[in-house]
Amino acid sequence: MITWDDAFAERYDQWSAHMTADVPFYVDLARQANGPLVELAVGNGRVAIPVARATGRQVIGIDLSDGMLEQARSNAAAAGVQLDLRKADIRELVLDEPAALIYCPFRSLMHLPTWADRRRTFERVAASLRPDGSFAWNVFVFDHQIAVRNDGTHQDRPVPHTLHYSVPENRIDIVRDDGARSSLWWGTKNEWLGLLDVAGLDVEALYGGFAREPLDETSREYVFVTRPRR
Ligand SMILES: C[S@@+](CC[C@H](N)C(=O)[O-])C[C@H]1O[C@@H](n2cnc3c(N)ncnc32)[C@H](O)[C@@H]1O
Repeated sequence: MITWDDAFAERYDQWSAHMTADVPFYVDLARQANGPLVELAVGNGRVAIPVARATGRQVIGIDLSDGMLEQARSNAAAAGVQLDLRKADIRELVLDEPAALIYCPFRSLMHLPTWADRRRTFERVAASLRPDGSFAWNVFVFDHQIAVRNDGTHQDRPVPHTLHYSVPENRIDIVRDDGARSSLWWGTKNEWLGLLDVAGLDVEALYGGFAREPLDETSREYVFVTRPRR
C-alpha cells in the first residue's frame, strides 16, 4: 500500500516550508559519518542537498514518488551537488555497500501503515549499516489534544485540504479537496523502541528536538540516533 499520493509533490516546498530546524542536525550527523550516506524517503532533496553540499559527498536518496524524485534531480542540479537517486521502497532497502549513516527526516516513517512495514524497514536498515554506522530519524510525539483541535479543520494553503483524525486507526489524514491523501500513523515511544529491539539496534541518543534537547514532558518530537547492537 502506498500512502503518499504523488499529488503532494505539487508545492512540496510549501508543505515543508516550516520544517528547517532538522537540516543542521542531519548535516552534523553526516559530517561525523565515515562512509556512504543514505536518506530514506528523500523527497525533493530538502535535506539531502545541504548534506551533500556540507560533506562534499554524494548522498543516496531512496523514494517511491516519481514527482518527488524529479524535483530532487532538478534541485540537486541547480545546487551543483550530486545525489544518487533511486526509485525504491524503503521497506525493501538494499545497498551495494554498508552505510555509515542512514537517516529519515520529516516523519516519513509515519507513512508506513503497519508495525510489520516498519519492522521490515528497520530490519533492512540494520542489515545495511556498517558496524559503526548510525540510523537516525524523527517523528512527532503524538498529542491527542492537538489532533482533536485539528480534526475536521479545512485549510486553504498550500492547496485546499482538510485534516482528519482517526482514533481507532491511530492515523492522521491530510485530504486535499480533490481527494488526494497523505496519511500518517503515529507510534508510541515504546513502539519505536520495540522496533529497535527486534531489528538489533540500540539507542545512542533520544532527543526531544533538533537542538539535542533532552526528551521531557514538553517534547513534541522524537529525534532518535541509533546504532547496531554490539
Ligand atoms: C514528508 S516527505 C519527506 C521528504 C524529505 N525526506 C524531507 O525531509 O523533506 C515523505 C516522502 O516519503 C516518500 N515515501 C512514502 N512512503 C515511502 C516508501 N514506502 N518508500 C519510499 N519512499 C516513501 C514519499 O514519496 C515522500 O517523498
